[in-house]
Amino acid sequence: MAENNHQAGEKAYASPYGRVDEEVASVAQKNEKRKKRVKCFTYVAVFIVIQSVIFMIFGLTIMKVRTPKFHVRSATFGAFEVSTLDTNPSFNINMIADLSVRNRNFGQYKYQNSTVEFFFRGTKVGEARIVRSRANARSTRRFLATVDLSSAGVPTEVLANEFRTHALIPLTSRSTLRGKVEIMKLMKKNKSTNMNCTMEIMISSKQLGNISCR
Ligand SMILES: *[C@@H]1O[C@H](CO)[C@@H](O)[C@H](O)[C@H]1NC(C)=O
Ligand SMILES: *[C@@H]1O[C@H](CO)[C@@H](O)[C@H](O)[C@H]1NC(C)=O
Ligand SMILES: *[C@@H]1O[C@H](CO)[C@@H](O)[C@H](O)[C@H]1NC(C)=O
Ligand SMILES: *[C@@H]1O[C@H](CO)[C@@H](O)[C@H](O)[C@H]1NC(C)=O
Repeated sequence: MAENNHQAGEKAYASPYGRVDEEVASVAQKNEKRKKRVKCFTYVAVFIVIQSVIFMIFGLTIMKVRTPKFHVRSATFGAFEVSTLDTNPSFNINMIADLSVRNRNFGQYKYQNSTVEFFFRGTKVGEARIVRSRANARSTRRFLATVDLSSAGVPTEVLANEFRTHALIPLTSRSTLRGKVEIMKLMKKNKSTNMNCTMEIMISSKQLGNISCR
């Protein structure tokens, strides 16, 4: 009987302790789970932040669409007839212009047919045709365009005035290229670029100099 009681007592004591242990264990387990969850959320948050930063850098550099630059680089001449006579000034010049389309995008720039117009003191004196083509990613495409420059439309007085001060033919060239920037086949964006250059034909040396493009 006494033994039985003792055993029962043992059982009665053992049981609550076991429950306490279980509770402690389950609290610890819950804590562990919570910690794991917090860790997991932290990883996800860090991952999202890193991804965002990567996308932002990507968007600001690779995916950014920059305006290509369209310039006159130099020129050579074919027929070169210039009269600086005060009474009958004129020019008829065949110019082979070296043009460039500088594309800084991480994708090709495809442009359409266009023209480059040349002006002498505001009067159009010639036009060069530009055939549709493309400039590759982060590269400059250079090509030649021929233009016949004629003073036929320029008032005699304006030309005479020019030649009285110097043996130069100042020109401006203007153009608009319309095209598309294609980045990694993902993004296509229409982009046009304007040419606005000034230059001078030096009559005595038959050279093009002082080229400046904005
Ligand atoms: C572009 O110019 C080329 C050569 O002059 C011509 O054959 C072509 O038809 C033109 N394309 C367009 C779309 O005008
Ligand atoms: C892009 O330009 C083409 C013509 O070159 C035009 O048909 C098209 O509608 C333009 N797209 C946008 C989004 O402006
Ligand atoms: C071209 O550039 C000149 C300065 O070099 C500027 O005065 C003029 O407004 C520009 N024209 C265009 C159409 O951008
Ligand atoms: C170059 O052109 C600019 C503008 O047309 C002019 O002001 C300058 O004097 C020229 N420079 C030379 C060296 O001819």
